[in-house]
Amino acid sequence: MPIATKMIQLDRVESVSAAIREGAELLRAGEVVAFPTETVYGLGANALDPIAVSKIYEAKGRPSNNPLIVHVARIDQAKSLTTVWPDLAERLVQAFWPGPLTLVLPKSELVPTIVTGGGNTVAIRMPDHPVAEALLLECALPLAAPSANRSTELSPTTGAHVFKSLNGRIPLILDSGPVRVGIESTVLDLTSPVPRILRPGIITPHQIEQIVGKVELMQKLIPTDGRDIIYSSPGLMKKHYAPRTPLELHENIDWHALDQRRLVQKLSVVAFEHDKPTGDDLGFVQMPFESGQYAAELFRVLHNLDEQGLDAIVVKLPPDDLEWLAVQDRLRRAAEKE
Ligand code: TXA
Ligand code: MG
Repeated sequence: MPIATKMIQLDRVESVSAAIREGAELLRAGEVVAFPTETVYGLGANALDPIAVSKIYEAKGRPSNNPLIVHVARIDQAKSLTTVWPDLAERLVQAFWPGPLTLVLPKSELVPTIVTGGGNTVAIRMPDHPVAEALLLECALPLAAPSANRSTELSPTTGAHVFKSLNGRIPLILDSGPVRVGIESTVLDLTSPVPRILRPGIITPHQIEQIVGKVELMQKLIPTDGRDIIYSSPGLMKKHYAPRTPLELHENIDWHALDQRRLVQKLSVVAFEHDKPTGDDLGFVQMPFESGQYAAELFRVLHNLDEQGLDAIVVKLPPDDLEWLAVQDRLRRAAEKE
């Protein structure tokens, strides 16, 4: 039986705090609520209640061996979820929290294993968004929250994206419009001998190295079949964040070849200003040539193109450069066929 999904547009209501209270009450009653963070919208539930957390997996249709990120509003709340708080963690949170950096640490007994995919580590972050913060403070609970979309779909960067994906499956969406960062947080594992980036994000390896010294990139460890990664970090499953429309990555945009294909196919080309065709630029989507701005637009552009009944989305690969690591990562996953 589908459930009625209510979406509250926070810029239209008389009292934002009443809406926050409504969300917090649902969360305290063991329900799920979708809310904005600076990265993408999350689908939150009480991280300390296994039954509440199981509703996240149910709504998303996500395998329950995938671990979830636990969101906190205060550092002592984060510390209560882990058995150790290394000096590295302290320095990182001083530098980047609240913000799009998730730390993987040994879990304390407070954290049920349904949150951690059965493992003994927990991923924690403090989101940098006033609605997320207000909700966390109001319910006074740590919130397990994956991106608020059906499993393998594109992450939502607006309340409308959440509605499109989860309408009928969750009771409440708090909608505050488009998010700032636009791609999911950087996930950093502090339990390995050398800190290891499990998922690249807008906080770059270089920025992290300035705080903690050398870090490893999971990217370099990806075996060709990707299977190891699925176990250790499900966000790195190859097909993830994918539009329904086939997405192709091209090193160069060959307009002549594309014009031939366009005689029989409906295509859209996502590229940069310097790739713009000289003639008719129908179906050309111009992206910013700056990685942070590109990331902020990426999922919105893909959500829009996915609505247009195209035969393919042709994307020009951004420069092969560490600064573009997170964007490259999301594009490669969006291009995966299985
Ligand atoms: O920006 C974000 O991180 C968003 C917003 C809502 O905060 N959340 C998000 O959650 O992207 P999700 O569930 O889609 O991705 C969580 C990823 C997992 O796929 C996995 O890679 C990693 O975090 N993760 C979580 N717990 C882990 C653990 N114990 N060990 C290793 N990786 C873990
Ligand atoms: Mg996700």
